[in-house]
Amino acid sequence: MSGFPYRRILLKLSGESFTVRGSNGLEVDLVRKVAEQIKLCHKAGVAVSVVIGGGNILRGSQFAEAGMDRATADYMGMIGTVINALALQDACEGIGLITRVQSAIEMKSICESYIRRKAMRHLEKNRIVIFAGGTGNPYFTTDTTAALRAVEVGSQVILKATKVDGVYDSDPMKNQDAKRFKHISYMESIQRRLKVMDTTALTLCMENNLPIIVFDIFKEGNLEKLIAGDDIGTLISSKEGLEYA
Ligand code: GTP
Repeated sequence: MSGFPYRRILLKLSGESFTVRGSNGLEVDLVRKVAEQIKLCHKAGVAVSVVIGGGNILRGSQFAEAGMDRATADYMGMIGTVINALALQDACEGIGLITRVQSAIEMKSICESYIRRKAMRHLEKNRIVIFAGGTGNPYFTTDTTAALRAVEVGSQVILKATKVDGVYDSDPMKNQDAKRFKHISYMESIQRRLKVMDTTALTLCMENNLPIIVFDIFKEGNLEKLIAGDDIGTLISSKEGLEYA
């Protein structure tokens, strides 16, 4: 993609962004690295909101597979996202950013509750808004939360941060010949079952014409380069068909 025309973005982070591959919990250094990248975005005049997953704390689906009630397991996972949100808030405020955490599940003693108009006001006031607690409902992923919140607060794009540098036609960890897309349509990614995001999230983005950029947040300076207009990652949009990088 050439240029970066977006002034209001939603950054979707997976819980794994906060931990080293294959382990659980939080690596403070990794949280700080993400906060630094957010700061650069903010400095460039981009309004940033964030949705974080909770897979590093607890993966609801795994507990459900082990026989636990699915809704209960999902609620446990949602609480995990609040832990991550507080860690990111702390890291951001440690480097001078003003943030607000809003949770879809009320936890009034530790953060605000999600109120759409208040979130929008925070963004207008140049604050970073971190959305926690998923959608507040079981059976939904944090990718769907990202799509929902982005549409609700008027974000112009979702930046989906991963540990790979875009969307590939097959798993680059398993297939050396996997090729990266520069662009792919929502429909193509759903039909090819590329597992970039779940179908609910992709459909919500498609219906609201909300583009998604998948990129590697851990490549030094990548987010900064992306918002400066460099050709990074894979764009998923309503433009038909696909284009290889
Ligand atoms: P404006 O005054 O509207 O610009 O926004 P503000 O967020 O600065 O004002 P507010 O008085 O709502 O919040 C002041 C501080 O209290 C902020 O750090 C908020 O995140 C925090 N806060 C607001 N509501 C809640 C809540 O329900 N629970 C918790 N724990 N903190 C809250």
